[in-house]
Amino acid sequence: MSTLITNIEFLVNTRESNELLRGAALATLPVIENAFLLIEDGIIEDFGPMHELSMRMPDLPKHVLDADGKSVLPCWCDSHTHIVFAGSRENEFVDKIKGLSYAEIAARGGGILNSAAKLAACSEDELFEQSWKRLQEINKLGTGSIEIKSGYGLSVESELKMLRVIKRLKQQSPMTIKATFLGAHTYPQAYKENHQGYIDLIIREMLPVIAAEQLADYIDVFCETGFFSPMEMETICKAGAEAGLKPKLHINQLNSIGGIQAAVKLKAVSADHLETMTEEDIKCIADSDTIGTLLPTAAFFLRMAYQPARQLIDAGCAIALASDYNPGSSPSGNMNFVTALSCIQMKMLPEEAINAATINGAYAMEVQDETGSIMIGKKANLIFTKPIPSIAYLPYTFGSNHIDSVMMNGRFI
Ligand code: NIG
Ligand code: FE
Repeated sequence: MSTLITNIEFLVNTRESNELLRGAALATLPVIENAFLLIEDGIIEDFGPMHELSMRMPDLPKHVLDADGKSVLPCWCDSHTHIVFAGSRENEFVDKIKGLSYAEIAARGGGILNSAAKLAACSEDELFEQSWKRLQEINKLGTGSIEIKSGYGLSVESELKMLRVIKRLKQQSPMTIKATFLGAHTYPQAYKENHQGYIDLIIREMLPVIAAEQLADYIDVFCETGFFSPMEMETICKAGAEAGLKPKLHINQLNSIGGIQAAVKLKAVSADHLETMTEEDIKCIADSDTIGTLLPTAAFFLRMAYQPARQLIDAGCAIALASDYNPGSSPSGNMNFVTALSCIQMKMLPEEAINAATINGAYAMEVQDETGSIMIGKKANLIFTKPIPSIAYLPYTFGSNHIDSVMMNGRFI
């Protein structure tokens, strides 16, 4: 079926070809004012300015939709989330308000271990239902593709349970979903004094099943003081590579301990978080093919210094923006807020923020051939906004919901 959409006020991020944007290129966001868009069987077939429509399409398709001044953006590509989790952790949120730090809460058995205990007690069906609701919520907020991690299992049984839930989400959602195995999120209580034992469990017991059942696309490690060292990360990622999993890694959230250099050496698709970066770290990632994924809502929620977006961009880095949606450090997956926050607190330009949350986010989970921009041949995964006076108005009016509707594969959800 063909659908022609006419009178689009701003058609945002229109591109003729795919390109990962780094440095200064991030500030260029192609926009067609007063545009049309043609969709054929859920795929973008053509687009251009309205004044060219009669010339380019003498016979209009039967199904014409007048956007009537609404604007259209490609759906957000959220390349780093942990939306499969059980329950919530607002008790820790209150503890933090009272003065405890993230590290102190983790040391008391809270944090990731708290979520692991809740997840172990949750059935696969119940976990699916809770995760499905979150997925629906963020789909309505404009997210069209998403990466989802395991990592609250920390045992063979529970890690596989999480990954099987992600597989079911993949099968049942119109969203494009990538799965990441994050068995190395923290050490479970029983292996607190036996790190090698847990790493062996990951390599010998978890990875073979994950490979056999094709449960993951990527492997992740939380490389951090008190969690996994760069050397432990290397060992785990090498085993992951043998199971066909490329690395996408949690790096430099709290400390700079050589994680960036190790991630670049491992040819990680992305190094994510980056709150704590030295000048050498910035140079190292900027000179590499690894995408730096910034998670400003995690810094916001934990009251930490924001990621040095300006220095990264000025150094020529390819950066993406993602929500980190998880129960401990970012209990929200609202990419509209992520982009607003990146402008307000990290001094990213609205154009840079939108590029980082769409096309570069798509690259950060390798779905750039099907989504992330308005390009012929890509999926019609689109955000329709209410009438807005400019693109910058979106992050400027943070907290307001300007989304009128969301289209997935050419159909409104
Ligand atoms: O990306 N930092 C590691 N993992 C998550 C938070 C985990 C949690 O607190 O539940 C993150 O911020
Ligand atoms: Fe995370």
